[in-house]
Amino acid sequence: MQSEIRNKLLDAFTNAGETFLSGQYLAELIGCSRTAVWKHMEELRKEGFTLEAVRNRGYRIVKTPENITPDEIRLGLLTNFIGKNIHFEESVESTQKIAHRLSNESVPEGTVVIAEEQRLGKGRMNRSWHSPKYTGIWMSLILRPNIPLTKAPQLTLLTAVAIVQAIEEVTGLEPEIKWPNDILINGKKITGILTELQAEADQIHSVIIGTGINVNQKKEDFPQELHEKASSLSIEKGESISRAELIRSIFKHFEKLYLLYLEQGFFPIKLLWEGYAISIGKNLKARTLTNVIEGKALGITDDGVLKLEDKTGMIHHIYSADIEI
Ligand code: BTN
Repeated sequence: MQSEIRNKLLDAFTNAGETFLSGQYLAELIGCSRTAVWKHMEELRKEGFTLEAVRNRGYRIVKTPENITPDEIRLGLLTNFIGKNIHFEESVESTQKIAHRLSNESVPEGTVVIAEEQRLGKGRMNRSWHSPKYTGIWMSLILRPNIPLTKAPQLTLLTAVAIVQAIEEVTGLEPEIKWPNDILINGKKITGILTELQAEADQIHSVIIGTGINVNQKKEDFPQELHEKASSLSIEKGESISRAELIRSIFKHFEKLYLLYLEQGFFPIKLLWEGYAISIGKNLKARTLTNVIEGKALGITDDGVLKLEDKTGMIHHIYSADIEI
């Protein structure tokens, strides 16, 4: 099916919600016969869409396929620029790598790279990120904010807030944030965020925000060493979760927060972030690449830097670390 026809059909079903659309209406919409409409609907069915067809009423989409497609994400997407341009791949080394390349090709702000699988997924602090096929959300978002380099980490905290809000909206679960960017449920990691920059001097060319969300993995899908530390939304919820719906919700919350941030700065985001944070006020250990600092987390600065007071009363500013609570 031509992509133009497909887009028209999927847009029409998005707008119709649960209402049936008649064959006649769809035929006029895409400018073809009712028999051709029937053929297009059969093609959607073959791709994994579950359709309901009722005589004298027409068609509606009941369920979208298990794998994700850019079209499925588009179905019901409520943003103006985040996720409007989707670069979709079945299997990649890392979505970050592709996003860096695309960013140099001047793609529009809000472009996202999404893959069904990553063979060399990258975590923070040179770790790897386990990214098995069809189970999680592995994506990288390209932004071009006009902010100084030093403020870029704020976008990581903003992303964490957007993801927590989306998880709450789609699953009803209540995630928490562990500074700077781990999202946990029942103490286990569900999401990691990796922010990378392309910059020259103090000028940001682009910010690439990589997000890994464990959505539909079963316990046995995780390597043994992660069993105690990591979990997925479906394990915590007890049912499988629509990845496309979650992606759409993330885009929606992200766009809203990002516009707020560009207009009003980090302060409103900081308040939201603090509302979800578990590390503040607690005694914790911060493992940086070179050092381990123990102390009480006092909060974050306006730049999103963690303030830790050690037992001598000295306050340390932590820019990047692993936190043990
Ligand atoms: C962390 O270590 O907590 C951050 C993990 C970030 C993983 C995501 S998955 C999509 C994007 N592509 C990558 O290779 N890494 C990030």
